Order: sequence, then C-alpha cells, then structure tokens
Amino acid sequence: MRVGILTGGGDCPGLNAVIRAVVKVGSRRFGHEHVGILRGWRGLIEGDTIPLAPIDVSGVLARGGTMLKSSRTNPFRDEDATAAALEGFRRIGIDALVAIGGEDTLGAANRLHAEHGVPVVGVPKTIDNDLSGTDFTFGFDTAVQIATESIDRLHTTAESHDRVMVVEVMGRHAGWIALYSGLAGGADYILIPEKAPDIPALLESVGTRHQRGLDYSIVVVSEGVDLGDQGPSGDVDEFGHARLAQQGVGDRLGVILREATGYDTRVTVLGHVQRGGTPTARDRVLATRFGTRAAEMVQEGLFGRMASLRGDLVADVPLAQAVGTLKTVPPGYYDLATPFFG
Ligand code: F6P
Repeated sequence: MRVGILTGGGDCPGLNAVIRAVVKVGSRRFGHEHVGILRGWRGLIEGDTIPLAPIDVSGVLARGGTMLKSSRTNPFRDEDATAAALEGFRRIGIDALVAIGGEDTLGAANRLHAEHGVPVVGVPKTIDNDLSGTDFTFGFDTAVQIATESIDRLHTTAESHDRVMVVEVMGRHAGWIALYSGLAGGADYILIPEKAPDIPALLESVGTRHQRGLDYSIVVVSEGVDLGDQGPSGDVDEFGHARLAQQGVGDRLGVILREATGYDTRVTVLGHVQRGGTPTARDRVLATRFGTRAAEMVQEGLFGRMASLRGDLVADVPLAQAVGTLKTVPPGYYDLATPFFG
C-alpha cells in the first residue's frame, strides 16, 4: 500500500513523532510505502509531495514543528478546491491518507471520507486539547509545561516588584491550557472561556491577597475569554475562526486590573512559544502510540476513523464523533481551582 501523510492546522510538538511512527511501523510491520504531502490540504490540492522512507524520519522524534509543514487551507472552501483535492489524491497515487490535525483538518478529513469515499485515517493533534473522542491530544502536555514554567518565572519577578502579572495563554475556545497551567503554577486567579468572567470576584481575590500582605498576584487568562467589550476585530482563517491572540484579552484585562486596583500590573502574552520546541516525553510517547495505531488502522482498512486515547488505552473512534462538538472544560474541573484563588 502507498500511504500519504499530511499535517494541517496550527503545528504542535509531537507531529514529527507521529510521522516517524506511521512510516517506521507501516513499512517495517506491513510493507507500506509512504509519501509526505506538504502544507496540509494545500499539498493535496497542488500535488506538492516529498518521498518518506524510514531513513527520512530518522532523528525527528524530538524535533518540534512538522517536517511536512502545515497550513490552514480548507479543501471545502469552494467546489474547485474540493475537486482539486480529490484529483490530487488520484494524481499522487496513494491508497490511503493519514491526516494529522485538529478540529478543522479532521473535519475536512471526515467530509472527504463521508461525502467522497476517500480512505482517510485521522490522528488528533492540538495544543488546545479540545477534540472530542479522545481524552488527550499530543502537544497539550508540552504547551502546559511551557506555560507552567513561564508562570513559575513570573512568580519570582512579580514578588520582587509587588506586581500583578497577567499571563495570557492559548487554547481558542477551550480553557484546558489555562486551567492546567494555572493549577500547576499556583495561579491566584484563572479565567477560561467556558465561564463568564466575574471581574468583581477577580478584583476581590487580588485585593484579599494584598490585604494579607501578599503584594503580588498571578492571573492566568485564556485567549478565548470574552470580556464583553469591543476588542480589535481580528481577521479569520479559511475555516472561519477568529485569530483570538490578536484580540488582546490579556492587555485589556491588565488595564481593568490596573485601573480598578491601582496595583502595578504587567501583561505577558505567551503566544506561539507554547507551540514551539521539543515535545515532552509524555507527548513523544502519546504521538508514537497514535502513529502506530494509525499505521495499524490503514492496514486494517479502518477508514473514516481517528486514533484516540481512552484512559490509558489507544483505540479508535469515528471521525464524525471527534469533530462533532468541541471538548471544553466541564464546570467540575474549574471548581477544582477556585479554593486556591486569593
Ligand atoms: O489551535 C492551536 C492554536 O495555537 C490556538 O491555541 C490559537 O488560537 C491558534 O492556534 C493560533 O493560530 P495561528 O498560529 O494561525 O496564529
């Protein structure tokens, strides 16, 4: 079998580990051949490929980013793009496709399979951890580790200067990164998109600390929090998603805190640093397990499905289940953090 592999959407640490596992396991166990499709769906549309033999994936396990590059190209943006993607599949001459991506990439994979019979296997990737059908996505652990280390560093400088430090983290419409890094970093308040911001409670929390003689605070805010005021209207990508990091929720929260409390306040927007660099050991292992399962799924003809983590078991679920609804933070998880505020 000749198997195409592509990575779409925002990159995340562990993508190369998946590619390596699909290629090594697929070729060694099943005799598959592989071709790398460059820049996600764009490479399928434009027929832009590279050969992928086991030797080509040697040494990539610990490398961040994606050796296949990525884009947010949507093969369903219009009929011409869809026709070109289907034609690309035939022209490249592959029998199966492994699509490694998040909600958008796997949503397109699901439609290509359901509406056009394309033999696709999905692998869930995103630092946001917002994909249904899997307990965790790889990349999330690394992003949380980077955000936690940053919060630790901000703690010491906040304390030295008696400052309030606002830390804006990524996550789109899911507060997983904010909640996990806020818990791990001992944040004094956490705001996530799933919970309407309670500014009086935030101010009280910070005020209480200062009254107790703790003259510094760390406030973690997820980029998708809606403060209800008019932020800059960010542009949208081909899937219609607003670019939230450009909307400046952290900066606006900093102004609110500074004006309401008079405390010296600084804002740090972590941004893409959360997506860069080497994956944690946990993400390398999860990515390797997902890639291995994807190779097996290709061999078993389990198309229209996605590798998934359930508890500590790697299994597979229908792609439709994974992309139907976003996996956001349930209320019980947030309640875990509130006793530590203030
Ligand atoms: O989905 C991953 C993610 O990093 C989000 O957390 C963030 O909102 C978005 O991608 C940023 O996208 P871009 O890299 O296109 O700026």
